[in-house]
Amino acid sequence: MIVAYYSNTGESRRIAEYLGKKLGWETVDILKTHIREYDRMILVFPVYCQGIPKRVEKFLGSVKIQNLIPIATYGKMSYGDVLRQMQDKFPHKIVSAAYVPTKHTYSDEERFSEFEKLGEIIENIYGDEEIKIPRSKKSFWADMLSEERSRMGVKIIRTDRCTSCGVCTENCPENAVINGITGKNCIRCLRCVENCPGKALEYRLIYPMKKYLSKVRCSDIVIYTASGIVYKKI
Ligand SMILES: Cc1cc2nc3c(=O)[nH]c(=O)nc-3n(C[C@H](O)[C@H](O)[C@H](O)COP(=O)(O)O)c2cc1C
Repeated sequence: MIVAYYSNTGESRRIAEYLGKKLGWETVDILKTHIREYDRMILVFPVYCQGIPKRVEKFLGSVKIQNLIPIATYGKMSYGDVLRQMQDKFPHKIVSAAYVPTKHTYSDEERFSEFEKLGEIIENIYGDEEIKIPRSKKSFWADMLSEERSRMGVKIIRTDRCTSCGVCTENCPENAVINGITGKNCIRCLRCVENCPGKALEYRLIYPMKKYLSKVRCSDIVIYTASGIVYKKI
């Protein structure tokens, strides 16, 4: 039994670590594990453009998981139809699942701290019955040039504090940054900004993106269980 996570700015990782500690399960980063078969896994990952991050898809396509509990963190905009998409695309048996609203990567709000509200997720992780995740609403625009929208809406700035230490280059999940200079594969996950030891990288939001993010659109914790759906407000 394991808690795995994919996390670029720490929200999903913090939730994974909380659950791991609470349950006494090992917690691993999917980018660092080489094990290919799991009996029961909680997988915490962010929603990206109302979709599943490419790295998470790659991971799910390369492992065998007997009982899967996916937990998608989202930045209070929209979680689209991510969990159902995951169920349709991969063969792993989903026994419960959840959406958890967190700090948005591109906002300065407080980090997620309402860990006690995750109790109902914990209560539902030992099931063996496959649940059917119902379709949820996904915006018409979600799949259209989604990565381009992030690229155009968020600018990463290399300040003169950069010493070309290479930490961003080593950590980038997309191999898209060299000493603070981002290339065309950059998905604007801000892992480089978050991990820069000298705080030498900054980001700026371009107007339409700033306006889009100015209003919280949804802040429900949604938990799918064998006996139904539970909604909780944050
Ligand atoms: C490229 C990108 C796309 C995102 N798309 C969405 C989205 O469609 N809806 C949403 O509510 N939050 C969205 N977010 C916010 C993240 O899902 C949220 O902040 C998440 O908790 C970040 O997880 P992490 O800190 O573990 O990387 C997006 C963030 C990034 C970087």
